[in-house]
Amino acid sequence: MTSKVDALLAELDQLQARFDDALRDATNAEALEQVRLVFLVRKGELAQFFKRLGELDSAERPRLGERLNQLKNSFESAFAEKGAALAQPKETGEFVDLTLPGIRRRLGARHPLLQVLDEIKSIFVSMGFAIESGPEAELDYYNFEALNIPPDHPSRDMQDTFYLDLGSEAESKRYMLRTHTSPVQIRTMEKQQPPVRIIAPGRVFRRDAPDATHSPIFHQCEGLCVDEGISFADLKGTLQTFAQKLFGPDIKIRFRPGFFPFTEPSAEYDFTCTICRGKGCRTCKGTGWIEISGAGMVDPAVFGFVNYDSERYTGYAWGMGADRLAMLKLGVEDIRMFFDNDVRFLRQF
Ligand code: DAH
Repeated sequence: MTSKVDALLAELDQLQARFDDALRDATNAEALEQVRLVFLVRKGELAQFFKRLGELDSAERPRLGERLNQLKNSFESAFAEKGAALAQPKETGEFVDLTLPGIRRRLGARHPLLQVLDEIKSIFVSMGFAIESGPEAELDYYNFEALNIPPDHPSRDMQDTFYLDLGSEAESKRYMLRTHTSPVQIRTMEKQQPPVRIIAPGRVFRRDAPDATHSPIFHQCEGLCVDEGISFADLKGTLQTFAQKLFGPDIKIRFRPGFFPFTEPSAEYDFTCTICRGKGCRTCKGTGWIEISGAGMVDPAVFGFVNYDSERYTGYAWGMGADRLAMLKLGVEDIRMFFDNDVRFLRQF
């Protein structure tokens, strides 16, 4: 006959087996909590046995007591061990380290070239000029012919461009990528009678090999002013004012004789070198001057193309290389940087 204590000890062996199974099967925190609620709390299965110590003779009590304490300790440490194991990162890499720094999204910014172009525009707008634009795919007529550049004129050679093959149109109907912003002069004068006072900033194209100062895509800002009594002095004053507003009051301008088929007289104009302020440096090749572009009084032949009365009106026009102005303004030494889309460069502005 088995004694009462032996029966209780056998029950405890079964309890241990059930606890071990339950713990093994618990694969997440909720299941583990269930194990705790069944076996380990104050009214749990193990605690029930402590109450039954009282059913035993005092001589038998220590055997059961010893076993109960030993079980209690081993349940608790097995439970704690399992809890720690479940909290460990899984080897699948699912673990997220919340202490790592986040990924910051950078805000974009206006392209440096366009920032300078905006500044150029606002200077001329403040001087009373309106902003005009024209198509980048332009007709031969506007790009050359109406600017007094006939088909075989040698000045076309300097502005070799990309022609768009749209069939067998006659020469003047041919489309091309515009080589300068000057065609906007013609388009504007076709639309309205004088007074005209506009600038035309925009993208232009030439079949140039890229280097530090050339890019097949670049930007110009055209200017045109036509009214009664306009003279070369007005042109000079306008460009002088512009140069000082963009680069500072110490900047001077100078004109050199030049030739453009759409102006008469024509000039090339320079600004005081903005890097050395006229002393002579590498950028201005020691001259103290930086070449900007061409300008002049609108040729009466051009007025003929747009039916302006050249006896009544005179006008001046100029071009300017916007990329070159931006390079000087921002201290950029290679025009190609504007078009490479390298964010390490672009982020600096
Ligand atoms: N279109 C000329 C060029 O790209 C620049 C130019 C010269 C524009 C004289 C003008 C001008 O309006 O009057 O080289």
